[in-house]
Parts: sequence; C-alpha cells; structure tokens
Amino acid sequence: MERVLVLNGPNLNLLGERDPVHYGGKALNEINSDISELASGLGVEVLFFQSNHEGDLIDMIHAERKTSAGIIINPGALTHYSYALRDALDAVGLPTVEVHLSDIYSREEWRRISVIEPVAWKSIVGKGPAGYMEALEELVAFIRLDK
Ligand code: DQA
Repeated sequence: MERVLVLNGPNLNLLGERDPVHYGGKALNEINSDISELASGLGVEVLFFQSNHEGDLIDMIHAERKTSAGIIINPGALTHYSYALRDALDAVGLPTVEVHLSDIYSREEWRRISVIEPVAWKSIVGKGPAGYMEALEELVAFIRLDK
C-alpha cells in the first residue's frame, strides 16, 4: 500500500484555538482523522507529523524519502522563508502538494511569497481543511498514474 506523508509545520498544533477567522474551528487531530477516513477509502496509508521545528520536519522528509510515495505539507510560516525546507523537498523529489487553510495570496504582503510553491507539484490555498482532502485525492491519483 502506498504511503503519503502529511506534514504540518509551526503553530498548526494550535488549530481550533488559533485565529479561527483565518484557520477555522477544527483541531488538527480532527482534520487528521478526516484525512485518515478518506485515506482508507482510497486504500492508502497516511503518516502524520506536526512539528514547530524546521529541522524536525526536514529530518522526517529525509527519513521518508524512500518509504513515502508523496507528501502533503502545510509548512505554516516556514512557507514564506525556509529555503532549507524548500531544498529538502527538492532533494527528495517526491510529488508534493502544498496546502494552506487560508488564501495566503490575499493576506499580508509577507505571506504572498511561498518559497515552497516552485518545488511543489501543486498548491491548494484558501479552502480550509477541505484543501487537505483535495490534496490527498489528487496526489493519490497522480502517484497511481505515474506507475
Ligand atoms: C498557513 C498560512 C501561513 O501564512 C501561516 O503562517 C500559517 C498557516 C495556512 O494554513 O493558511 O501558519 O500556512
């Protein structure tokens, strides 16, 4: 069974409490359980990892480079400046979908730049938790097409 790595970066552990106007009222574990349900319907395994530390996210990407078939990532604010995370995704070369709950392109100026977008296969922004579901469906279809 293919495995998809689902990564969430800094502050996403506070979903549900944090800025519900932009990020909605669902906690990360609720979002992840919806993802799990969809994954079992699609017949894929999902591995969830959230960290507030850039290096831990990078270590996980490296560790999964041969065992995961694709990556879904919401890098949080690392999106806007982490060339290290960008390079890690580029280095492993797994198909990656970048997800943002909010529409980063219609918020503050500094959020409108994603250094991850150029190395992502797709970016899904502004769709709330549904963005993760869309990401999983599209990624799985792509991975299977690629075989
Ligand atoms: C976010 C957008 C980022 O700008 C922000 O720093 C986050 C969440 C989103 O999901 O909309 O932490 O990635």
